[in-house]
Amino acid sequence: MKSCSDIIVIGGGIIGLAIATELAPVGMTVTLIEKGVFGGEASVAAAGMLAPLKEFTKPGPLLDMGICSLDLYKNWVLELKEATGIDCQLSTAGILTVAMTDMEEEWLQERYQWQKSEGYDIRLLSGKEVQKQEPHLSKMVRQAIYSPHEADINNRLLVEALVIQAKNRHVRLFQNTAVIKLKHTGRKMTGVVTEKGELEANHVIVAAGAWTADILRQVGVNVPVYPVRGQIAAVDSNHLPLSHVVFGKNGYLVPKQDRRIIVGATEDLAGFDRSSTVYGVSKVLTGAMSIVPAISEAPFLQAWAGLRPATADGHPILGPVPNWSGLTLACGHYRNGILLAPITAKLIAEYVSSDETEHMNPFLPNRFSLVSSEEK
Ligand code: FAD
Ligand code: GLY
Repeated sequence: MKSCSDIIVIGGGIIGLAIATELAPVGMTVTLIEKGVFGGEASVAAAGMLAPLKEFTKPGPLLDMGICSLDLYKNWVLELKEATGIDCQLSTAGILTVAMTDMEEEWLQERYQWQKSEGYDIRLLSGKEVQKQEPHLSKMVRQAIYSPHEADINNRLLVEALVIQAKNRHVRLFQNTAVIKLKHTGRKMTGVVTEKGELEANHVIVAAGAWTADILRQVGVNVPVYPVRGQIAAVDSNHLPLSHVVFGKNGYLVPKQDRRIIVGATEDLAGFDRSSTVYGVSKVLTGAMSIVPAISEAPFLQAWAGLRPATADGHPILGPVPNWSGLTLACGHYRNGILLAPITAKLIAEYVSSDETEHMNPFLPNRFSLVSSEEK
């Protein structure tokens, strides 16, 4: 296996795949190494929503990044379709966020006010108006924000398309190959040791999702990333037409073009255990039934779980590790890695090809003290 490339990307989830495909056309030789199968962790577990206005609770750099990434999506999936033949089923029907109690109404109004004052195109709908748009919603829904520009995608197809695109662009792809060690001379990266052999490179990008901290720890770098389990399920939408993504206080429902409705999701601290539990699955299904009662009659298809890569301050960690040469992080996308993949790939490619970090300033690793106790 011993060989050399300009860049090694560790982790073949949506973030690693997006970065590898973005870097290859700028003339770099890129190797992508995945310990399991491409996308097999959080990236296929996700619901596939592209929902910055729902997910980010205040104005700021993260919301700006999310909006920017959403804007990139249309062209990204078009390009992927042209290059791979795979239609990633981008749906632009918009998102409804519903309120069913006094407290939820108050929260909804507050959200509506600041988002409207920031100039976002959203609409406040009465219970009657929202029932017209989605007749199967619970009669308890009193009000909703309709956000017409938010979207969702089939993230499984997106992973498949990115793998083909990576092959088209001559990225060297390794699956079922765990990186067990980073190789370096002093603080300069020289490559990686995998369970199947060694690979050399001057630049290593770690995009290993919730596992990023494990990889960096052995070189004395403490990255504040940890797993937050999300349990999620799919039901057959056969008898239940639902045309928008619907968010409520107790969960969300995401209708897919392949007739599934995805219902999610828990947030559990369970380490690296990605089991589905009786409590978790029942919580998710109960939450979905409270928003769309008729879902109780839908055929149940499947439940699964994934590990979101959460960070100490809730923001992704992007860019060079301070005091190291050729060591870059692209991790910590928590609940929004599908949404943030295209912008992350652009920012990392910009940094790798020009050393420019200006556009990812709020997300740089240097906002944390990354030195582990042994190194101090
Ligand atoms: P991952 O997909 O986890 O990929 C990291 C990869 O690194 C893994 O494949 C892993 O095997 C590999 N790896 C780890 N260690 C090594 C090693 N030593 N050597 C080689 N490879 C290694 N986001 C959205 O935008 N919209 C949503 O609707 C949404 N819904 C979600 C619902 C659930 C239930 C969950 C769990 C997540 C959801 N997310 C959503 C979040 C999203 O899934 C993540 O933010 C995103 O997938 C993170 O991508 P990643 O590539 O960083 O991580
Ligand atoms: N973004 C939805 C989730 O993480 O569950």
